[in-house]
Amino acid sequence: MSSVKINPSDWTVYTSMDSTEKIEYYNEIASMYDTDYGTDRRRGPFATAAALGACVKDENQRKSVRILDVAAGTGIVGEELQKLGFTEIDALDPSPGMLDHARKKGVYTNFLCQFLTEKPCDIQTGSYDCVVMCSAIGSGHVPAEAFLEIQRITRPGGFVVLAANAKDLHKDYGNCRQEFCRLFDTLEAHGKWVKVTEKTFPCYNGEIDGILMTFRVC
Ligand SMILES: C[S@@+](CC[C@H](N)C(=O)[O-])C[C@H]1O[C@@H](n2cnc3c(N)ncnc32)[C@H](O)[C@@H]1O
Repeated sequence: MSSVKINPSDWTVYTSMDSTEKIEYYNEIASMYDTDYGTDRRRGPFATAAALGACVKDENQRKSVRILDVAAGTGIVGEELQKLGFTEIDALDPSPGMLDHARKKGVYTNFLCQFLTEKPCDIQTGSYDCVVMCSAIGSGHVPAEAFLEIQRITRPGGFVVLAANAKDLHKDYGNCRQEFCRLFDTLEAHGKWVKVTEKTFPCYNGEIDGILMTFRVC
């Protein structure tokens, strides 16, 4: 078992871990995750769910929209989606420990215990109406190229919602903006998706601002 402690403002340790160590790291912190990163401390999960709610306004339609929550962790985003009336939600995360906590919340239908990477995954093309992802880009989490897969598995007309630390994705900071935004722009230039919104919001994590992006898949 890993006993690595990570300073929340410096994720270089996580970045340098191999896959097994990354899984162990999140397995180990899973039981404390909701206390440390719950919705009273950060608005990312709320903003993610609200953005999808803005895309799917019809409350009846929300009951049948198939959603994949990428890097679902302990399911905090799923809980926020459920509050808005979304019921068909699957969770993807490589950490069984995090997914065990998500399972107990009763908001997800299927659990995909895997990394999403630059490699093609076994999820069928166009099988989800929407894909959401909160707090999982940068620092060795979901790589930019995984968005090729996220776009592929979302059906045409569906939505992709992404919430991240503004320090990672906002043009005024942009720790990893180049690699992500270049790929987002390439997907748009190739007619694969259209960016619908990009906005910042307060309290992504404590005093740190967040950035929210929504794309409509073509
Ligand atoms: C900071 S947590 C965010 C959890 C949840 N989305 C939330 O907002 O509470 C990051 C999660 O990303 C997962 N993760 C890391 N790399 C990943 C990858 N390549 N594909 C999918 N999930 C990944 C971790 O296991 C962890 O549960």
